[in-house]
Amino acid sequence: MGTALNDRFGRTATDLRLSLTDRCDLRCTYCMPAEGLPWLPRPELLTDDELVRLVDIAVGRLGVREVRLTGGEPLIRQGIVGIVARLAALRPRPTLSVTTNATALERLAAPLAEAGLDRVNVSLDSLDPLTFKTLTRRDKHARVLAGIEAAARAGMRPVKINSVLMRGVNDHEAPALLRWCLERGYELRFIEQMPIDAQHGWDRAQMVTAQEILDRLAAEFRLEPEGEAVRGAAPAETWLVDGGPGAPGGGRVGVIASVTRPFCAACDRTRLTADGQVRTCLFAREETDLRGLLRGGADDETIAQAWRTAMLGKKAAAGIGEPGFVQPQRSMSAIGG
Ligand code: 5AD
Ligand code: SF4
Repeated sequence: MGTALNDRFGRTATDLRLSLTDRCDLRCTYCMPAEGLPWLPRPELLTDDELVRLVDIAVGRLGVREVRLTGGEPLIRQGIVGIVARLAALRPRPTLSVTTNATALERLAAPLAEAGLDRVNVSLDSLDPLTFKTLTRRDKHARVLAGIEAAARAGMRPVKINSVLMRGVNDHEAPALLRWCLERGYELRFIEQMPIDAQHGWDRAQMVTAQEILDRLAAEFRLEPEGEAVRGAAPAETWLVDGGPGAPGGGRVGVIASVTRPFCAACDRTRLTADGQVRTCLFAREETDLRGLLRGGADDETIAQAWRTAMLGKKAAAGIGEPGFVQPQRSMSAIGG
């Protein structure tokens, strides 16, 4: 292996977020407008061969060990099972996970597990079908729940659930979501809403903070911090709930305080958009075009070197809410969570 993906602040990226498509079959209000977005034209998307080649370079030359498939909604990409199988055949084999809304997971969980998918992170913001419909503008709650069950049945462990709380919409559901996850052995993580929506509707004052979430949970559960040490590069700070995973009815909950307690100093991520642009951060303002290099006939080492150079431009922190913070041009669905 050549040099890893080091930046100028002592961090090394080993976790690749790979977006397979910018499209999605839901329209979460905190992400997209009702009418959707101008999607990337097909010729601009990386082909399966191009994707696999870039990930091969990332694991073979750049020290990437974990690949998380994202979107938009990654499971709507044609040929997803084949892509996973090809990524699982790379050496060294990366850990493979997917961040999904689970609408297509009932059908795909078993074939994906078979192809080598190790884990799933499912976004679920409500247990109430009507609230789900208000929030996602689609009537697919039952399919999502069936998808989550299918992932558990397919043996993917742990099944992680991500929830974004919005004031007056679903914030009262925090304890119910936790109870539901504990009963089923899923690991729940709440994520503070970030200014990465296409409509630029984020309002700091409206955001449900990590502290508020914890206060709501503490009214119904006994929470003990797992401690700073375990946070590591993982952005979630975790709490043991009612005695922790060993105790009857106990478990764990995570809170990702992306805005109020940013974890940039421990960031180990690099990102690749569905059209082959390296982004060093969700909130980066610059991108590095690997697709152009690929299609121009560059060899693997040239592409690896361009990726390394991109990482040297990674900023120390995203700076959400600081003076001068400007939301990136692309929104979450076009970058990949
Ligand atoms: N802030 C926080 N999380 C978000 N997600 C999408 N948009 C935002 C946002 N603005 C979440 C989704 C999913 C993951 C990819 O990121 O709910 O869980
Ligand atoms: Fe789709 Fe995820 Fe955006 Fe919701 S948050 S619209 S599931 S990409």
